[in-house]
Amino acid sequence: MRVLVTGGLGFIGSHTALMLLQKGYEVIILDNLSNSNPAVLGRINSQTGNKALFVKGDILDVALLKEVFREHEIHGVIHFAALKSVKESIEKPERYHLNNVVGTERLIRICAEQGIGRFIFSSSAAVYGSAASPVTENSGIGEIPNPYGRSKASCEDLLKTTHFQYKKPDITILRYFNVAGAHPDGILWEEAQPDGGNLMSHIIRVASEKTGKLYIYGGDYDTPDGTGIRDYIHVMDVARGHVLALEKQKEGVHTYNLGSGRGTSVLELIQTFQEVNGVDIRYEITGRRIGDISVSYADSTRALDELGWRAELDICDIVRDSWSHSEGGVDMSK
Ligand code: NAD
Ligand code: UD1
Repeated sequence: MRVLVTGGLGFIGSHTALMLLQKGYEVIILDNLSNSNPAVLGRINSQTGNKALFVKGDILDVALLKEVFREHEIHGVIHFAALKSVKESIEKPERYHLNNVVGTERLIRICAEQGIGRFIFSSSAAVYGSAASPVTENSGIGEIPNPYGRSKASCEDLLKTTHFQYKKPDITILRYFNVAGAHPDGILWEEAQPDGGNLMSHIIRVASEKTGKLYIYGGDYDTPDGTGIRDYIHVMDVARGHVLALEKQKEGVHTYNLGSGRGTSVLELIQTFQEVNGVDIRYEITGRRIGDISVSYADSTRALDELGWRAELDICDIVRDSWSHSEGGVDMSK
């Protein structure tokens, strides 16, 4: 089976592309390199005799998309390509609408016209807004406090509308919670983000620099230790979720949470990082971050029942693998 992976040189896309290749799928990666390093392709392809083909390009480029579908018989699409900074989305909402929503609209329309059978979409826990945790897929989309989350909710809507109109492709929407970790063999990891990135990226920065500190956004939430609670999930588990979703895709549009089902506070994550990796993280508790919610973790029962998926790795694996590639100062440009 030949699969087009948009955003396949990014963090989750690269881990998924490698897993697909290792399982014998043919993989075409389409990525505009706006948030990825071209060297990732070589790292993916060094791991298996089965090589991914790379097309440098943008999902907004309809002529290019048509050419890719004309030149290759594609059976399934996994659509990761998107901008993902909540902070930047508040500063530049139009950019997020254009890239994430209009980009997805162009891609899904061509997929529908081409009669592509399977389509898997990267959605986010962000669509639940401040709905009470654990959230199930039926929890309903809450009031979403940032344009990034709203862009994902809009994409979900337009995917459903397109399926309703064309009856193709069959669509799986995967709502991931807080993805972290790295490939356990040290081949792939999350690149440093222009906005400083997520909590794990900030922990790694503080641990590596040995100067500075981590600012914890809020110590007065209604949680056992007062800090925000999230559901951290290992990128290898998320990648495996995509392979299962592709293999078990059903007719229609189906939505699944990919989370561990366990909430971890900011202080707990720091504590675990320190214990597992034997490094010290200096921190200071400051005010809450605008747009943050108190608690977010998943009920992923549906993914277990229908896809046979559950998180197999825990936060000890996550903090170990996140740190092991950065320890010793791996050159991120290679
Ligand atoms: P990433 O930024 O590492 O990867 C996204 C990739 O898409 C990058 O390689 C980037 O260059 C590419 N890209 C962006 N816009 C593009 C465009 N218009 N055309 C072609 N390529 C484009 O992000 P990630 O963490 O791997 O996330 C992948 C997907 O999962 C995204 O859709 C993101 O919103 C979603 N998601 C991520 C998380 C998380 O915790 N990382 C959580 C929930 C959902
Ligand atoms: C949010 C979205 C998630 C999305 C991600 C993209 C929700 C529920 N989740 O994650 O779906 O994929 O953005 O970026 O909307 N924190 C600190 N100090 C820091 C950084 C973070 O204390 O320096 C805290 C935050 O306040 C939060 C937790 O750590 O409590 C996790 O934050 P972060 O890693 O930024 O991810 P979310 O905002 O949860």
